[in-house]
Amino acid sequence: MTTVLVIGAAGKTGRAVTAALTSRGVDVRAAVRSARRAETAYAVGARSISVVDLETGSGLDEAVVGVDAIYHLAPNVHPDEVGIADRVAGAAARAGLSRFVFHSVLHPDDASMPHHLRKAAAEKVVRAHLPGATALRPAAYHQNLVDAVLAGRLSVPYSLDSPFTNVDLGDVAEVAATVLTRPGHEGLTYELAGPEVLSVRDQAHVATDLLGRRVEVSHVALDDWVAGPGTSLTAQARDDLLAMFAAYDRAGLVGDPATLRRLLGREPRTWAQALVAS
Ligand SMILES: NC(=O)c1ccc[n+]([C@@H]2O[C@H](COP(=O)([O-])OP(=O)(O)OC[C@H]3O[C@@H](n4cnc5c(N)ncnc54)[C@H](OP(=O)(O)O)[C@@H]3O)[C@@H](O)[C@H]2O)c1
Repeated sequence: MTTVLVIGAAGKTGRAVTAALTSRGVDVRAAVRSARRAETAYAVGARSISVVDLETGSGLDEAVVGVDAIYHLAPNVHPDEVGIADRVAGAAARAGLSRFVFHSVLHPDDASMPHHLRKAAAEKVVRAHLPGATALRPAAYHQNLVDAVLAGRLSVPYSLDSPFTNVDLGDVAEVAATVLTRPGHEGLTYELAGPEVLSVRDQAHVATDLLGRRVEVSHVALDDWVAGPGTSLTAQARDDLLAMFAAYDRAGLVGDPATLRRLLGREPRTWAQALVAS
């Protein structure tokens, strides 16, 4: 049986990738920050747990023993994303592993977003250790906005009219499971964008029609965001996200869905389908 080590397995993306792998009969070893997160990973089908500290690398060499492949993702807007990639890919290389998939982001070379540039640098570091590594570059997930929509209000600190090709996290996880378990994806980079171009205002309209109750939409002033959600963040994470909001104001985040369509062998899920499924 194939065994895959999933980094960050108790987080939003890691849970989806773990569930997609285990639904295909793959044995998942979940790398978690603390044993307290074990239940979260077991709940989506992980068979075993490795406690790993991505910031120091402790536990990594033990976690990679006996696995066939690694799915690597970094904690959100982490300042040392490149160092983390170096530690995880380095452990994989020392263990003689070649199948390695890195969870990057759509348009990692966009210089207006420092956390995107860190993903571009992390892709390079991974491939310095493992030239055959695969990189997935997902757009923003539909699921980021689902809870707010179900609560009746979408409030964002960027333009309500900017265009986005958001992607379904389940579709991303399905592609992750494919490239981790089937040959033919070595050394390749895949952009994973959703099938529609929608603004946040469009998304609220679609949700209003679908749910049969009004979903309000509003713009949050940056000062209010900084004094509200921004207070729980480090200064660097706050600045990274402010740069992202400015980039979203200018151009949104738009990619081409063709690669995702080809890899899935079907139409990617729409915003409405993601809402129905949640
Ligand atoms: N959200 C999107 O739309 C989107 C789109 C494209 C790409 N991405 C990328 O996807 C990646 C994952 O995002 P996410 O939303 O899934 O993140 P998340 O839910 O915050 O998951 C990150 C996981 O990493 C773990 N972690 C944090 N620090 C750690 C450490 N020092 N050692 C070991 N584990 C540690 C966390 O552990 P705990 O569970 O204990 O906190 C958590 O389980 C990010 O790099 C993001 O940029 C996101």
